[in-house]
Amino acid sequence: MSYEQEYSASINDPHTFWADKARQLDWFTFPSTILGKDENGIDRWFTDGVMNTCHMALDANLAAGRGDQVAIYYDSPVTNSKQAITYAELTERVATFAGALRQQGVKKGDRVLIYMPMIPEAAVAMLATARLGAIHSVVFGGFAAHELAVRIDDAEPRVIVSASCGVEVNKIIEYKPLVDAAIEQARHKPERCVIYQRPQAHANLQAGRDLDWQVAVAAASPVDCTPVLATDPLYVLYTSGTTGKPKGVIRDNGSHAVAMHYSMKAIYNMNPGDTFWAASDVGWVVGHSYIVYAPLLSGLSTVLYEGKPVRTPDAAAFWRVAEEYKVKALFSAPTAFRAIKKEDPNGEGIKQHDLSALETLFMAGERLDPPTYEWVKDITGLPVVDHWWQTETGWGICANLMGIDPKPCKPGSATLPSPGYDVRILDDNGNEVGPNQQGNVAIKLPLPPSCLPSVWGNHERFLAGYLEQFPGYYTSGDGGYKDDDGYVFIMGRTDDVINVAGHRLSTGEMEEVLAGHPAVAECAVIGINDDLKGQVPIGLVLLKDGMEVEADTLNSELVARIRQEIGAVACLKDTLIAQRLPKTRSGKILRKLLRQIANGERYNIPSTIDDPASIPEIEALLRERELVAH
Ligand code: COA
Ligand code: AMP
Repeated sequence: MSYEQEYSASINDPHTFWADKARQLDWFTFPSTILGKDENGIDRWFTDGVMNTCHMALDANLAAGRGDQVAIYYDSPVTNSKQAITYAELTERVATFAGALRQQGVKKGDRVLIYMPMIPEAAVAMLATARLGAIHSVVFGGFAAHELAVRIDDAEPRVIVSASCGVEVNKIIEYKPLVDAAIEQARHKPERCVIYQRPQAHANLQAGRDLDWQVAVAAASPVDCTPVLATDPLYVLYTSGTTGKPKGVIRDNGSHAVAMHYSMKAIYNMNPGDTFWAASDVGWVVGHSYIVYAPLLSGLSTVLYEGKPVRTPDAAAFWRVAEEYKVKALFSAPTAFRAIKKEDPNGEGIKQHDLSALETLFMAGERLDPPTYEWVKDITGLPVVDHWWQTETGWGICANLMGIDPKPCKPGSATLPSPGYDVRILDDNGNEVGPNQQGNVAIKLPLPPSCLPSVWGNHERFLAGYLEQFPGYYTSGDGGYKDDDGYVFIMGRTDDVINVAGHRLSTGEMEEVLAGHPAVAECAVIGINDDLKGQVPIGLVLLKDGMEVEADTLNSELVARIRQEIGAVACLKDTLIAQRLPKTRSGKILRKLLRQIANGERYNIPSTIDDPASIPEIEALLRERELVAH
């Protein structure tokens, strides 16, 4: 089958195409409707199918004779520990933890919030929630208490599952005080917290509310899978939008399972028994899809790595893990490879390891810049595949189908639209533009399986954020173009979302935090180019009249505020005091112009500008602090 045949089959006859893919999974009742509409008029896949994602990921593998195969390789250089967990053991652990959650009252449709480091119990908690037909919401461990509180209020979980701590490079991050502070701040109060005690830190448990994971499990018996409709949610994952409030992306059970299973072979060329490694975190969509669900739904062994590409202990860490578990495909963000390149520019580390099992490297999460692409290709001698996707879709919108018909890679391009995605480049009026012309990257409806059908608790926001700008299309929020061969080049966000070390963050949210400082009258946060992290935020602040603060003191206070409210991952290190900011006559800060100035790009001064003299001032300020890219 060629890419062209596969792709046109998916667009011309999506019913037959996706019905065939769905048949490869173990449904309780196979759907008779492949593509229907819900009460909001939104396209929904497999509407009357009955299934359970945990059954498809675990029990079905036992039935297929894979009980003794390793399901999860846990590798933790930061705690010096390893585990190889078979499908039989994982099923037992998941079924028992599901029993423990049920004893705490968790039932179908309830939310379970999971705030965990990269330990197997994180995956166990996700799968156990799915087993009960409940809905998990995993929150990345690098987020601070306030971010957690916002998510608790939005998802309203019955139970929170957490651990005593996470382990970063040379430091222990205690999670329990963050959980306590978040619950304190939140309006919604969970009934229970189940806490996994790690040897590196002991969490104090609050009588009546908190329960030790081990105690809960010892008192529980394994439970079976609860049947759910394909359209019942499996999880809600929060992602940054343009406002301070993150968006809860909803993922259906059935369509997600089908897309995960399909993509594992089509894009990544993985077969049952192979080892796949997504070096990410379960708190991000990459971790949900390709550390946990897709590999298990496909009978693979997956690596769950609690470490960094560098400093745990060195820049050969990725190659050591790839050798040890005979990883066939490795997936991470370009920033991870830039970190390795910085410490080991000649790729000495790779020479010490036998990578004969490794066939392909996949990258996503941010633009794969051509120098990083070339470097990784050169030192590994392997195909390096960039693919473009979002939390909203759960899998690659554009990719190179390594399991069907590999195409030549072009540096800077995420290759071609994946089957099911009718990708179009539109101008601001919604008209399609020709090859090599930049525009808004949109997807013609219907979206393929796994894409979000709504935003948790706020369908209006879903419509306004994704479907209303160009009727009949999903708006991705990314800009880009197609070349003469139809290859798609994603050039960056068209909104105020930035990508810091492959982590998606909202500058609007950071602005809200900075604006909360008593000395700040107004501010703008913009992403500037960074050699290691792709982008990092900087803040430009205007002081309230009559305020006298020392710039360094203010900077430390603002940086601390961001760490306190959002978390260290935001990586905001620099704030500058400006006398004025460029604005339109209607008072809107010209953030795009600020970004262009800081990134040393050519810019046009909009005719709507109120105070053109503010521009040279800002430029001088950024130059003085060496914050203008060359
Ligand atoms: N829990 C608590 N804190 C965390 C955390 C977690 N799970 N993850 C990161 N942090 C903290 C870090 O300790 C650091 O704190 P510090 O400022 O006090 O030192 C801060 O957040 C920034 O972390 P990070 O952006 O990861 O920077 P780093 O310098 O520690 O590492 C990289 C840089 C490039 C090595 C790292 O970002 C990386 O491996 N990225 C891979 C990308 C990735 O996984 N993307 C996910 C989508 S594919
Ligand atoms: P997230 O939802 O965290 O996965 O972030 C999605 C965003 O990351 C996209 O909207 C893009 O801006 C960016 N992104 C992800 N993958 C790529 C890629 N391969 N090339 C360019 N940008 C990417």
